[in-house]
Amino acid sequence: MAQLGQFSAPLAEVLPRLRTAGRVGLHASGLMTGWASALPLDGVDLSFFKKSFTGAMDLHERVLAEPGKREALARAEREDLFTLPLFLGAILSDIGRVRYKQRNGLQALPVEPEDSFPYPDYYLTDFHNQANGGLSLRAALTYEWQIRFLFMGANRLMRQGVIDEIPEGSHLDILDVACGPATWMGQAWLQNRRHRYTGIDLSPAYLEAARLLRRKATLLQMNAEQLLPEWTERFDLLTCIWLFHELPLPAIERVTAEMARVLEPGGTLLFMDAIQQAEETPGELGPFEHFEAYFNEPYFQDYTRLELPELFARHGLRVVKTERWYMSKLLVLRKEG
Ligand SMILES: C[S@@+](CC[C@H](N)C(=O)[O-])C[C@H]1O[C@@H](n2cnc3c(N)ncnc32)[C@H](O)[C@@H]1O
Repeated sequence: MAQLGQFSAPLAEVLPRLRTAGRVGLHASGLMTGWASALPLDGVDLSFFKKSFTGAMDLHERVLAEPGKREALARAEREDLFTLPLFLGAILSDIGRVRYKQRNGLQALPVEPEDSFPYPDYYLTDFHNQANGGLSLRAALTYEWQIRFLFMGANRLMRQGVIDEIPEGSHLDILDVACGPATWMGQAWLQNRRHRYTGIDLSPAYLEAARLLRRKATLLQMNAEQLLPEWTERFDLLTCIWLFHELPLPAIERVTAEMARVLEPGGTLLFMDAIQQAEETPGELGPFEHFEAYFNEPYFQDYTRLELPELFARHGLRVVKTERWYMSKLLVLRKEG
């Protein structure tokens, strides 16, 4: 028995690590066999993938070791099983479309809106190589799977950084700017953040996905550059996840001004987006240089050079905390006043 104990202690340490490596590896192999098969990797330092893998492992281990997090995330992830068949069913046509673009030297394909909403020009491109860009319901319903492979399974783990900053309870009025399918809200709800949520997004398809996935939120089609005039100082807390890298700089300035306007004085903005040039360690952003072209992210490079603290300060938002969450960074900002 004593001998068994000798083995079981190290085994108990190694097994969870193996489980995590398996989980991250599954997503890494999905990335390699799916998207990467359609992407030219010439000029990409492949050590990037090793670093990404290690980074994803570290985040998995750190977050899932916290009390209650593994259970909450496992429950939140169950909903992704509903959309998996849709994702798998469309992989071949998605890869075919990317290859078609490559063969014809096309950076972007046109996007056809089905409604008469005044979409800004920059939005009408097939971001992420999605069929009909942000305006396809299928793309919206499978978005979480796309980014799951891109981030080696760390998609929801990174957004946990935002959730951790939200106080528990149900007393806050929260606006999520560019909510997409509002994935993090279900995850937050499971962790006793049951606040009054409003989500806005330009895409009726993403909002429809959020409705189909039963988000407990008021969901409205709106341009983040022009929020409702009556919302001045209306919200206690704002969240904005992975929007800025999709916007040209003048639009970023307008969205920041609008976010500052609708936040109450002393209120908090939780901002998350990709890491930037300043955080780059050699080679780390390597494929990010290619990311812009591969995934049709026309404003990505400009975003990575943007001085975020200065931008926010121009609009009365002061950075109180900055944290790195794998491929993303979180800024916690307070509105002066
Ligand atoms: C990368 S997705 C991020 C979605 C979500 N925040 C998340 O956590 O996954 C970017 C989202 O921004 C939306 N978007 C882009 N430009 C916008 C704008 N000017 N106003 C509102 N939403 C916008 C897109 O429709 C898309 O849903």
